[in-house]
Order: sequence, then C-alpha cells, then structure tokens
Amino acid sequence: MSLSLIGKSIKASATLRLNEIAAILREKGEPVIHLGGGEPKSKAPLEALVAASNLINTGEVRYTPADGIPTLKKAIIRYTEEFYDRLVEPENVIASSGAKQAIMVCLQAILNPQEEVIFPAPYWVSYPEMVKLCGGIPVPVFPEDGTFYPRLKDIEQRVTSYTKAIIINSPNNPTGAMYSEEFIAEIVEFCEKRNIYLIMDDIYHRLIFDGRKPINCYKYAKDLSENSKLIVINGVSKMYAMTGFRIGWAIANKKLIEAMTNIQSHQTSGPPIVTQVAAAAALNGPQTQVESLRITLENNRNILIDRLNAFKGVKAFKPDGTFYCFADFSYYMKDSIKLSQFLLDKVRVLVVPGIEFGLDGWVRLSTCGAVKDITEGIERIKWALDPDSPNELYIGERKLIRDWL
Ligand SMILES: Cc1ncc(COP(=O)(O)O)c(C=O)c1O
Repeated sequence: MSLSLIGKSIKASATLRLNEIAAILREKGEPVIHLGGGEPKSKAPLEALVAASNLINTGEVRYTPADGIPTLKKAIIRYTEEFYDRLVEPENVIASSGAKQAIMVCLQAILNPQEEVIFPAPYWVSYPEMVKLCGGIPVPVFPEDGTFYPRLKDIEQRVTSYTKAIIINSPNNPTGAMYSEEFIAEIVEFCEKRNIYLIMDDIYHRLIFDGRKPINCYKYAKDLSENSKLIVINGVSKMYAMTGFRIGWAIANKKLIEAMTNIQSHQTSGPPIVTQVAAAAALNGPQTQVESLRITLENNRNILIDRLNAFKGVKAFKPDGTFYCFADFSYYMKDSIKLSQFLLDKVRVLVVPGIEFGLDGWVRLSTCGAVKDITEGIERIKWALDPDSPNELYIGERKLIRDWL
C-alpha cells in the first residue's frame, strides 16, 4: 500500500497501545495488573457530570467557536489568575481536544520543515512524533550528569540556528521529576534572550508531593507583552481525572492563538461542547477532588518506592510528582520492550518500556491504580525476575511455576 512519508514514519502511541492490550486480555478473563496507565481511577467531579448531562438533556448539542465556548474560556482565565497570578484575555486562550491537541496545533502554528524542537529526555512519548508530524526535527536532550533534572547548559549546547522551540514538562512524564525553580527561571530567561518559543507543558503541575508548590513560569518572564513566546499548556485530564473528556488548553500571545485557532478550525472545529461545559464546571467547582487525588498519589508513590527499594536489582527514581515512577531494571534485562513483554506473558503485569520515553533498560510504572494493584504487581514482577523468590506463585486460583530462572 502506498502511504505518505509521515504515514509511514509515525509510531502508534505506546501507552494507548498498552491500554488496548490490557483491555483485550481482561476481556478474556486474564488477571492483568495494569501498571502502565496514565489516568487516575477516581471519578470525574460531580459538577462536571451534571453539567454535561444537563446539556445533553436539552438536545442542543451544537458546534462551538473553534477556540472554545466563552464559559470555558472564562473558567480557564480564572484558573490562570489563581494558579499563575496572571490575568489574560479571551484572545490569549484556546481550548482544544486535550492538552495533546493544544500542543499539536501550537507546533503546527510555529514550525517550518526542518526546524528543531528541544525537550529534555526521558520525554513524553508524543513529543517526538508530534514534531515529526509538523515536518520538524525532535531533539531530545539527556542531562549530562546522568540525573533526570536538566540543566540549562545541557539544553544550550543543543541549540542551533534551527531551534524553534523548547518543550519543558515538569513534573515530568515518565520520571516524575519536578524541575527546580532556578531551572525554570533560567530557561524562561534563556528563551526570551534567544527568541525561542518555550512551551511549558504543565499538565501535572498540581500533582506534586512532599510539600512542593507549583512553579509559575510567568514569574520569571520579563516580556509579558503580545510579543511573548511563552506558551503554557494545561488541561483537565490528569488533575480532574477527566481523561476521556478530552479538554486541554493553551495560553499564549494573541497572534499565535489566532493561528492555532485557524488550524484547529479545520481539524476538529474545536472540542465537543458537552465536554467543554463539563470542563468549565470542574474548573469552577470545589477543588477538593484535586487535592484528594494528590494525597492518594503521594501515598501510592510512597508504597511503590518502598516496594521497589526492597527489590535487589532495581534502582527506582523517587518521583516528585505525577502518577509515574521510572525504574532501572537493566540488571535483569537491558531491552525494555522484551522485559515489558516478558512480564506481561509470565505474570500478566503491564509496564511501559523505557525506550518509548528514550531510555532503554528502564520501565515506567504507574501509581494511579489501587494500592492492591501496586503491591501485587510488584510482588509478581519480583517473583518473575528474582531467583531468590519461591518457585511458585498463585494468581487467584492459578498456580504458576517458575521454570525460566
Ligand atoms: C506530559 C503530557 N502532556 C500532555 C498530555 C496530554 O494530555 P491530554 O489528555 O489533555 O491530551 C499527557 C498525557 O499523557 C502527558 O503525559
């Protein structure tokens, strides 16, 4: 079959593919533990559900402005004022079908073919593919000191005359590392000085632990005029447990938002009205659910890290936020795709191979499931890999015998 170069080069989202595998196995009655997920298990806020169903009941489910309904934009403006201490105008805001689309239309609006986009590695699986979709060149940057905290000099070294944008995602998917206030200040200042777009992917900005406070990048911007190339991305998927609603947004200068809106108007005509209404209700409603999700995730992180630290061959990075934990399993298997397949085949535990985020030998484990899934999942993984564990394992009624070590 004849496919375009883009059609041939873009990989499926590894994380979405794994969700499908887990769903298929579960349907067959397999006792799968999904430690690869990227969505909270809690329910969407009640206000969101009521708002959506009220609108559906009217039967008036129509097209909306391509950049979002005024009610949602107003809620986003209020959110930006509350969490970023910055008052923006409706023309500075676009609501999209998920933060994913907001980032995508942003890249489409700024990138010319062959222009480069830098982002720290490990990185969210979609960044390289999104840049490639725009004809651009993804430039992942590993911190030279071997940590998951990038330094300005790591990034600076990779900047060329083709560099159009830098994407910063903190706290980070997949590592959970939250970059320091000092680094955010430096990168904001650097991008302003070098006239480079800075895309702050803040989708996890309130899901942070150990008393940390969200960092406000605007605090370090000298130029907050309509010439500013600072873009802030956010959404309801993660913090409000509303992944399936597909609402995210971008805050940027008016010219850029207009270009993004024009592009979006030909893609999806804007996000669905039902979920825009729901997202506005979640943003305007009581915020207790976000805090209770944050507390649950911090607790789950502590449990997961405890279990992983007791695992001889594993080195786990302690996340500062998000619902992910990145751990080095290379002592057992260097090929993370093989390791992930092995764990699924042998003990029905699903983890995401680190290579999908740019780092082989590691895997991403998620803490958004139940505590029981975390503890049992790690127990099964340990049994499969550690020669010192007993030879048999029960999964429900099923008795497994380890014959591979
Ligand atoms: C770093 C990062 N940015 C953006 C997104 C996209 O979120 P949304 O569901 O709003 O499209 C995700 C989702 O996994 C993510 O991890």
